[in-house]
Amino acid sequence: MEQNAGQVELKRGLRGVYLDQTQSSNVLGEVGRLIYRGYDIQDLAKNSTFEETSFLLLHGHLPTQRELDEFDAQLKAARTLPEAIVNVIGIVKDAHPMDVLRTAVSALAAFDEDVNDNSMEATLRRGIYLTAQLPTIVACHARMVDGLIPVQPNGRLGHAANFLYMLFDREPVSEDARLMDVDFLLHADHSSNASAFAARVCASTLADLYAAITTGIATLKGPLHGGAAEEVTKMTDDIGDESNAEQYVKNILDKGGRVMGFGHAVYKAYDPRATLLRDGTRALGERMGQPKWFRILSLVEKVMQPLAARGISTNVDFWSGAIYKLLGIPKSLYVPIFAVGRMPGWVAQIMEQYANNMLIRPLLQYVGPDGLEYIPIEDRR
Ligand code: ACO
Repeated sequence: MEQNAGQVELKRGLRGVYLDQTQSSNVLGEVGRLIYRGYDIQDLAKNSTFEETSFLLLHGHLPTQRELDEFDAQLKAARTLPEAIVNVIGIVKDAHPMDVLRTAVSALAAFDEDVNDNSMEATLRRGIYLTAQLPTIVACHARMVDGLIPVQPNGRLGHAANFLYMLFDREPVSEDARLMDVDFLLHADHSSNASAFAARVCASTLADLYAAITTGIATLKGPLHGGAAEEVTKMTDDIGDESNAEQYVKNILDKGGRVMGFGHAVYKAYDPRATLLRDGTRALGERMGQPKWFRILSLVEKVMQPLAARGISTNVDFWSGAIYKLLGIPKSLYVPIFAVGRMPGWVAQIMEQYANNMLIRPLLQYVGPDGLEYIPIEDRR
């Protein structure tokens, strides 16, 4: 990763570089642990909800019941999209859902009178607003794509249940809602991942929260970041039957290819988020009378097992895609769902950046020519 190029020590991709300090989350890659503000995500996934975990990330401590009720009410009150945003979504509806999400969040800035107020209070208020708006944007667009009328948010339902409700126009069973809730919670923050870093770079110029979140969404879109779950589902569909799994994976490995849903830039052990979603996939598949997908994926894991010794283990996307598939969610929504979950982490990190700002401005080693003579265009060949 680290190279010496001439006099300069290059750290390509900034691998291994600490750019600042954070209190938001910690990824312990060697042992496969993820911590949000001191709490292990295993504990949070078991006992908490997305709403409570969002409060934790945004405020820095677990809420009292009264604080949680207030926070929940703030989220619920902010779910409905401005009419103009629904129109914007309609105009760009043929684009990829991530492009639509990015466009809608960017457009929301136009309706915020205090858009340039980067104080902690305003950023927090706006962060809660955006956390509530994202699921509605994603669901509203998905309905429009199918030629259906968008479903208004349901104030009786929690964040995850309401998302599924707006997507399918029916209240989810509590187990499905809880699985979606845990999935959002597990995606809520992940230290200096590419999208959070990009959002911090944007915030470090003192651009507003909408600009920084738009940057985060744009960065999450790439297949090396948010897109692997979709690829895992395509692979599962291709395999189709348990009897094909082993040969399918071996064929990829024999050709030197990569099996999607394995390996991670930081985790060298089993991704702790994947552990939790693995159990969820098994339970969901059995409940839906479709245990086949869990069995296929388990066989893929078995064939990949020898690579664990080289630090290539299952990552979160391996199992999250299976859950979305079983819930009947279209593949193009997998990355937007990641964004819905990641919102509180982005906001928490942007707030940290504003609170102790320093313009992020690394260097590039110039390796191009110097001293060239300018030739007038008419003399160039
Ligand atoms: N399947 C097979 N081999 C792999 C895999 C994989 N999924 N991942 C890494 N390797 C191998 C590489 O081929 C390479 O082998 P080599 O040394 O013989 O050339 C070695 O492991 C190191 O690969 P790097 O790309 O240098 O490792 P890095 O840790 O930087 O890669 C990455 C991380 C990009 C995620 C990689 O593991 C990958 O492409 N995985 C598949 C895509 C995926 O699942 N992405 C989701 C990540 S989780 C998330 O973003 C939420």
